[in-house]
Amino acid sequence: MRYYFRRWLLLIAAQLFVVCTLYLVLEDSQIRTLLSTFVDWLEDRGVYMCHIRKLPMVFEHGPEHYYVVWETSCPANGSSLEWWLDGTPDNGSSILRHFVQAQYKMIDKSRHRYSAIIGPAGHATKVHYASNSLGKSTPLYSIARRNETELTRVLVVADNQNGPTEFRRVLASIQSHYGSNSIPDAILHVGDVVRKVDKLSHWHSQFFSPLEDAGGYQHGSPILFAPGNHDHDSERVPGNSNVYTDMYHGILTTDGLRDPAVTNGTYHRFYHTTSLGSARVIVLDSECPSTEQSEFLELELQSAAFQSARFRIVAVHIPPYIEFWNPDAWNKKGEKHWGEQVRLEYDALFRRHNVDLVISGHQHNYQRGTVQRNPQSADPTDTITYAIVGGAGGDLDLERAENWNMYNVTYLGHHFVSLEVDGQQLRWIAKNKAGSIIDQFSIVR
Ligand SMILES: [Fe+2]
Repeated sequence: MRYYFRRWLLLIAAQLFVVCTLYLVLEDSQIRTLLSTFVDWLEDRGVYMCHIRKLPMVFEHGPEHYYVVWETSCPANGSSLEWWLDGTPDNGSSILRHFVQAQYKMIDKSRHRYSAIIGPAGHATKVHYASNSLGKSTPLYSIARRNETELTRVLVVADNQNGPTEFRRVLASIQSHYGSNSIPDAILHVGDVVRKVDKLSHWHSQFFSPLEDAGGYQHGSPILFAPGNHDHDSERVPGNSNVYTDMYHGILTTDGLRDPAVTNGTYHRFYHTTSLGSARVIVLDSECPSTEQSEFLELELQSAAFQSARFRIVAVHIPPYIEFWNPDAWNKKGEKHWGEQVRLEYDALFRRHNVDLVISGHQHNYQRGTVQRNPQSADPTDTITYAIVGGAGGDLDLERAENWNMYNVTYLGHHFVSLEVDGQQLRWIAKNKAGSIIDQFSIVR
């Protein structure tokens, strides 16, 4: 009897060992990246049945609208999106439900993209939605809409491009920060989500899949997107291969974004303005400078909405002040002049019109500097902060190419930021992938 008992115990121990080993292997970021790439490869070969290939990803689309995009592995005629404001789906008949026929775009034979716009959302505190394709609804997703006095938490990341394994590690740290039962109210992505915008496998392995595996923030935390140099298709015309972030290209228009998105077929219009709680945010496109963008920036900076906002923020991929880059490329290949208009033209406007915080990516590490807006000013509160958050996963920039003598904090590692605003305070918390705080500051008004 004792012999059988010992064998039984050994068998249980062996099974536990196998399960634990499998769990550890499958939780490893590198293994998850490889598995995800392999599954995507199988999907391309039509191994799986017709299904929803990418669950909805929601983008902020001006102050009152949201743009939702999802994808199926075969054509799904009649795809739609249902949305409603406040309330819950089953607790009463007074809720006005909206059904939107999805717009369709065939990307290739195993990728069929659907998109729809939600809004206007008015003063609703919550937006609920579910998309429907192939006769099935996705789970119900909810977007929280905070007012100016409520705490609004914004996840800030940039430059995960070409670094899915590190991005997954950063996302694990982000999950610990927000907790398993909570999501940020929005995601500010300051550019370079993928290495090559026309490589569909990059969109899967470098952006959609890591986010999905980390709990799917993209379903309920609207992405506020400042495009980077890797996010543009070089053919700057409508209908190019920028297939997941072409909402500002004139294909779709909303009440909030009536203006032509492409002027003369020469560039995309990504620049726009929105609000995050008590903060007003101007999004710029550093890759496509134009007279129209300059005029837009001047008007927005002077607008009552921007000047009366509790906190005034600009999000632009290329920072005004870069210090870390490959020195050869910086000096000999002339890359120091790349996006120079942000420093030479826009920064003077930021300072003149009381911008509090300029958030950028592009440089793959973390820097933050708070300086006087006007060097001649004696007012210690008359400051502007420049933050570079380009460390969500891509290879790090470790070599110094310039020294502007203005950054208070430099961290040469992968990281993310949680930007938290309420009626009185803007709080900035930068953490590395191990979850340790690498920088924090606050502005109190
Ligand atoms: Fe970049």
